[in-house]
Amino acid sequence: MKVILVNGGPHKDGCTNRALEEVSKTLENNGIETEIFWLGNKAISGCLGCNGCSKTGKCVIDDKVNEFLDKAKEADGFVFGSPVHFAAISGMLSSFMDRVFYGRGNLFSNKVAAGVVSCRRGGATAAFDEVNKYFLMTNMIVVGSQYWNMVHGSKKEDVEKDEEGLQTMRTLGNNMAWLLKSIEAGRKVGVKLPEKEETIRTNFIR
Ligand SMILES: Cc1cc2nc3c(=O)[nH]c(=O)nc-3n(C[C@H](O)[C@H](O)[C@H](O)COP(=O)(O)O)c2cc1C
Repeated sequence: MKVILVNGGPHKDGCTNRALEEVSKTLENNGIETEIFWLGNKAISGCLGCNGCSKTGKCVIDDKVNEFLDKAKEADGFVFGSPVHFAAISGMLSSFMDRVFYGRGNLFSNKVAAGVVSCRRGGATAAFDEVNKYFLMTNMIVVGSQYWNMVHGSKKEDVEKDEEGLQTMRTLGNNMAWLLKSIEAGRKVGVKLPEKEETIRTNFIR
């Protein structure tokens, strides 16, 4: 079993990464393979809405999005982490997630997911709400913790002092590991994925 943890911030070794490391270490302690996937600090374009991906499965803009989509096929769970930028997720992660999730129900359905945010002071719950919206319309199973998944700090040394934030990350890791193992156990005894109706799409045009 494998979980990919996305660092959607500009700092490879910053606060978001420190929070993700805590989740990752806990998952590994539970025997689950992990990989931290940093978006890097080159610009990531927003979705062009060209629907090119519906024909090829790949995005027409060949960048980190396609690299991630290849890895995502093999993953059982995901954590998307972001610094809070103006009470929202980072612009880069927002662009990345729009392009990763657009039309990709098959890749993510019935897999587990969680968001993690890092802020200096405020806006964490607004950003947390934003990241969870991607999962909740993609048939994903969202994992919770003892508190909303957030840490506080301007640099990773600050996060180190956020004992409650780091404990929240460990609890998230343990909860995710338990859920992944429960899903695996269910699969082994023949529990089938839920049946899906053909999707109805209404555009409210009369
Ligand atoms: C453009 C920008 C906007 C920010 N907006 C907020 C904010 O709204 N609230 C807040 O508490 N911190 C804000 N911050 C601070 C970061 O969220 C905070 O330092 C975060 O922990 C950094 O994570 P990182 O090291 O992974 O980049 C902002 C930082 C930047 C660069």
